[in-house]
Amino acid sequence: MTLLAILYICGLCILLIILVLYLSSLTLTNVPFLSLSRVKLPDILAALDMHPESVLYELGCGDGRVVLATAKAHTAAKCVGIEYALAPLLLARINYFRAGKPHNVSIRRQNIFSTDLTEATHVFCFLYPHVMVKLHKKFQRELPAGAIVVSCDFEIPTMLLKQKIPFSKPSSLGRTLYVYEY
Ligand SMILES: C[S@@+](CC[C@H](N)C(=O)[O-])C[C@H]1O[C@@H](n2cnc3c(N)ncnc32)[C@H](O)[C@@H]1O
Repeated sequence: MTLLAILYICGLCILLIILVLYLSSLTLTNVPFLSLSRVKLPDILAALDMHPESVLYELGCGDGRVVLATAKAHTAAKCVGIEYALAPLLLARINYFRAGKPHNVSIRRQNIFSTDLTEATHVFCFLYPHVMVKLHKKFQRELPAGAIVVSCDFEIPTMLLKQKIPFSKPSSLGRTLYVYEY
């Protein structure tokens, strides 16, 4: 077999894996697994504006990059990543182990709509508009007064905006952060 044929088969395998990852997250949650670029993390951390005693829930944490970066920046804060789809969940768990199993992070396999948010002082999500509409009611029911919600790219239509922050390095995945206070 020539080197070209081997490269071709490897390329096909990688494409197949990417397709399976994408479809598995889509069929389980109706929201595809798409990761924000790591260059956006400083803007997200600034928008969250967390304190040592904060409790962050990332709803749909994908491969865990945001929840892990936040935990690294705020070592006294509790950071919880919620993910339901198996492929991103596996990546999040691998990244958690690669980060040295930070004491302040937990990655949970849960549906975001059945996750108890009563202890969350901060929420981060990068989901879809229809999901934000549904989540708003849950936020109203469960979040403590003053909790901060940062939504990447999708507004909560019926909620008064506290701040609208454009990413310093915008792209098609990650243009604006919408900040709300409940
Ligand atoms: C667009 S990705 C964002 C990933 C990550 N937050 C980031 O910014 O890189 C959305 C993630 O939310 C997850 N998700 C969507 N709906 C969910 C649900 N109902 N319960 C748990 N996870 C969900 C998807 O599986 C996907 O991994």
